[in-house]
Amino acid sequence: MALRIIRKAGDPVLREAAKEVRKITPVLKVLLDDMVETMYSVQGVGLAAPQVGVGKRVIVVDVRDENGLLKMINPVITGREGRETDMEGCLSFPGIQGEVERDHRIMLRALDPEGEEMEICASGLLARALQHEIDHLDGVLFVDRAVHIAEEARSKAGQ
Ligand code: NI
Repeated sequence: MALRIIRKAGDPVLREAAKEVRKITPVLKVLLDDMVETMYSVQGVGLAAPQVGVGKRVIVVDVRDENGLLKMINPVITGREGRETDMEGCLSFPGIQGEVERDHRIMLRALDPEGEEMEICASGLLARALQHEIDHLDGVLFVDRAVHIAEEARSKAGQ
C-alpha cells in the first residue's frame, strides 16, 4: 500500500464527474487500499477517488462507529429521510469548516471490493460522510452547499 497525494481546492480534478467502475481489477483494489491508508494517515473519516486524482466512482468511509470501514464502488443513494444541519470539513480544504444541510438518514447501494452488491442504511454522521463523498464523485464540494464557512475552530476529522 502507498499514500497518495490529496488534491486540494482549485485542482480541476475535484470538479470533474467521476466515471462508473465497469470492472473490478487488481489496480482498483490497490486504489481502494491506498485510499484507506491515505485517509487514516490524516485522521480523515472519508475519501473519494477524485481527491487522489482518480476519476472513478469509488469512496472509502470510516466514521469510527460500529459500521467500521466501508469501501464502496459505484455507490447510489436509493432513499432519503429527514434533514439536519451540522458542521463539515473536507481533506481537500484543510483548515475550514462550514454548516451543511444533509439528509438525516439514507439508503445506499454499492458494490464491495469483491463485486458483491451491498445495501446499507445510514444515519447521522455516517449518512453525512457518505453524502459528502458521493458529492465528490459528481464534482460537488461541501463549500458549494455550506453556509457560515469559517476557519476551523478546533481539530475535527476531515472528509
Ligand atoms: Ni471532502
